[in-house]
Amino acid sequence: MRFVDMIERKADGFSLSKEEINEMVSGYVNGTIPDYQMSAMCMAILQKGMTDQETADLTMAMMHSGEIVDLSSLPGIKVDKHSTGGVGDTTTLVVAPLVAACGGTVAKMSGRGLGHTGGTLDKLESIPGTKVEIPMKEFISIVRENGCAVIGQSANIVPADKKIYALRDVTATVRSIPLIASSIMSKKLASGSDAIVLDVKTGSGAFMRTYDEAEKLAELMVSIGKLTGRRVHALITDMNQPLGMAVGNVLEVQEAVELLSGMISEDDPLYRVCMLLGSHMLMLGGIASTKEEAESRLRQAVCDGSGLRVLRNMFRLQHGASEYIDPVKIRELIRVRRTVDVTAEKDGYVTAMNAEKIGTAAQMLGAGRAKKDDDIDPCVGLVMKVRCGDYVHAGDPLCRMYIDSEKNSVDSIRTFKEAISISDEKKPITPMVYRTITEDDV
Ligand code: URA
Ligand code: CA
Repeated sequence: MRFVDMIERKADGFSLSKEEINEMVSGYVNGTIPDYQMSAMCMAILQKGMTDQETADLTMAMMHSGEIVDLSSLPGIKVDKHSTGGVGDTTTLVVAPLVAACGGTVAKMSGRGLGHTGGTLDKLESIPGTKVEIPMKEFISIVRENGCAVIGQSANIVPADKKIYALRDVTATVRSIPLIASSIMSKKLASGSDAIVLDVKTGSGAFMRTYDEAEKLAELMVSIGKLTGRRVHALITDMNQPLGMAVGNVLEVQEAVELLSGMISEDDPLYRVCMLLGSHMLMLGGIASTKEEAESRLRQAVCDGSGLRVLRNMFRLQHGASEYIDPVKIRELIRVRRTVDVTAEKDGYVTAMNAEKIGTAAQMLGAGRAKKDDDIDPCVGLVMKVRCGDYVHAGDPLCRMYIDSEKNSVDSIRTFKEAISISDEKKPITPMVYRTITEDDV
């Protein structure tokens, strides 16, 4: 079939067959379908949508465009997790070692931060010496020995996504939910794990601003798993304020280390979300049969220090200075010219935060990138002193900023202040976890 006829059919709201979708992806990757036709197709998909089956077919076609990681030499069920990206979102550094300490196998590929969101690879590299580009054989042997390892996504995974995403970026079609779902899931499926727990964030600091969009994306990704034979659970969690208190690279590793050292309360939001993600990973990994059993094992791995030991060992095996994976010793890595407390200008309740602006404030200090090839400073960032719902007096600290260069410090402080709303009236606060979606829900 001529590609122009396929575009027309999609524009008229019809479904594409698996064969047509395969032809589309291979044709676009090998250059026989030009950018202008693929642009029109992406716009037609944005306007008319795709069925769950079409989206699953697109995911598989994209996955097969490149290398597929083979984890079959590792024993047991391999479980992965993925977050759609947030601020103070330090869950991987907590959950991967805890799940491994409970007997799970986590061979994870992560990304770098861009814009207001942080990336796990940058956090890992904030510990001196740590390598995130590790040959596949070595990666697998680290996972075999330690139960978990986290590396960068191999350059040969899903080339179709790189080409299609670049096109979507300049044709206003990034926000198509089937295109987002297939982009994320093709990379997760190509990473080789048997089961995946997704953390879909919604709110002011999230890629999905509204709950309805987040729910559609989460359900679609679980459905893709079901249609392609992988087990997928999704959580929809809140990103209307940073998840953890720390926003920055070493600062977030420090928070993960403190959590794994039992220094963070069990009702802390980061702790809660990590327990929930971890418990679904243990259930999908066949290690626990109920959420209660899973959570109790994870809590035990915090209390007995086994999770912290796995994290320290992971850094050691990835060539990092693992002696810093210690709640006291890691403080030595936070070397900045000055710290400043940003304070409340009036009395009142913290009624809302703009999490994107908080992430941007940290990025402006050098904790993140505005453009892909910007350098980051591992030490800088901020640590929140308040949560939504707290009462503050004028002069109370809202956050402590870790500043190394004065280049953007004034703008960063201003951006942070704009992010915090303080009001006389107490307002209801958003829940931390909205919904859990499993195969039975789609
Ligand atoms: N993240 C991805 O990996 N792909 C998208 O399309 C959007 C967010
Ligand atoms: Ca559905």
